[in-house]
Amino acid sequence: MFSQEGKVFIVTGGNTGVGYELCKVFSYHPGKLKFLHLDLNDLESVLQAAKSFSEQESKLDVLWNNAGTGANMVDPGAKSVHGLDAMIGMHCVATLLFTELLVSQLRASIRSDNPGSTRVVWTSSYLAEGASPINGISFEHLQNRISDRTANYAASKAGTWILGREFANRHGNEGILSVIQNPGNLKAGSYAGTPALAMWLINPLLHPPEFGAYTQLYAGISPEVSLDHNGAYVIPWGRIRPDNDCPRQDIVKAMTSTEQGGLGYGKLFWEWCEEQWKPFML
Ligand SMILES: NC(=O)c1ccc[n+]([C@@H]2O[C@H](COP(=O)([O-])OP(=O)(O)OC[C@H]3O[C@@H](n4cnc5c(N)ncnc54)[C@H](OP(=O)(O)O)[C@@H]3O)[C@@H](O)[C@H]2O)c1
Repeated sequence: MFSQEGKVFIVTGGNTGVGYELCKVFSYHPGKLKFLHLDLNDLESVLQAAKSFSEQESKLDVLWNNAGTGANMVDPGAKSVHGLDAMIGMHCVATLLFTELLVSQLRASIRSDNPGSTRVVWTSSYLAEGASPINGISFEHLQNRISDRTANYAASKAGTWILGREFANRHGNEGILSVIQNPGNLKAGSYAGTPALAMWLINPLLHPPEFGAYTQLYAGISPEVSLDHNGAYVIPWGRIRPDNDCPRQDIVKAMTSTEQGGLGYGKLFWEWCEEQWKPFML
């Protein structure tokens, strides 16, 4: 393990579920836990959260983008405060904006004697592979979503994966490591709203939420994950999965740049997200 002394971390969604278990691990070490208000449904709140953080800290070592809402808590067609599709708005547009607003603090933590210790961890899901459309996201449906809650959630989590990979392409050369992880299937709030019969069937397959924290910890601080793994996908309970082992080769190809024979969705989706927040940044 890298020494964690003097490090500054953000865990979004740290008050419950997997995020809480992750914060609990850090609470066993000397240091201070501080609350930062962030509502990913509201881009204004994202701006304020980043501003508030930058007024308190000059560097950021690891950002865990953990906050999110499960498929059954968001009605199809639900919108964010600024009229974005709720799932894509929260898991993709707002999460990317928050991350981009913190890049200068991330840069400030890069250490030549500890390469790869500055990281952004993105939270995807097994459903990104299990239930997302062909290529992970459909540009046609980004704003006018289909009525299937699980497919909407899955597309937003495939979008998170695509953005995490693109973040590695854009910021990897500077020394910021970007890792996407599927925390595992866990007894936590993501299953809220799931019909009782489905829950009865799913429950035996779920693990305690601290297992999700193990996956997050591996992605965020394990020295096994190096700059050579930038853009890697981490699976439960902390293993890098090579792209060749991914059952959804369509998503892998979609997020690969056109120069490398892919569909260039990383660049396209990143730019689409920027277009969504542009009107609120003036
Ligand atoms: N549990 C699983 O099996 C599983 C599987 C795959 C992926 N995941 C992903 O892992 C992450 C954590 O899941 P979990 O099961 O631990 O969920 P959880 O128990 O429901 O906790 C979610 C956390 O995210 C926060 N959050 C939700 N909406 C937010 C918003 N609009 N703005 C800011 N924060 C928001 C919540 O804050 P409040 O309490 O204030 O709402 C809470 O702290 C999620 O991204 C989820 O998609 C979970």
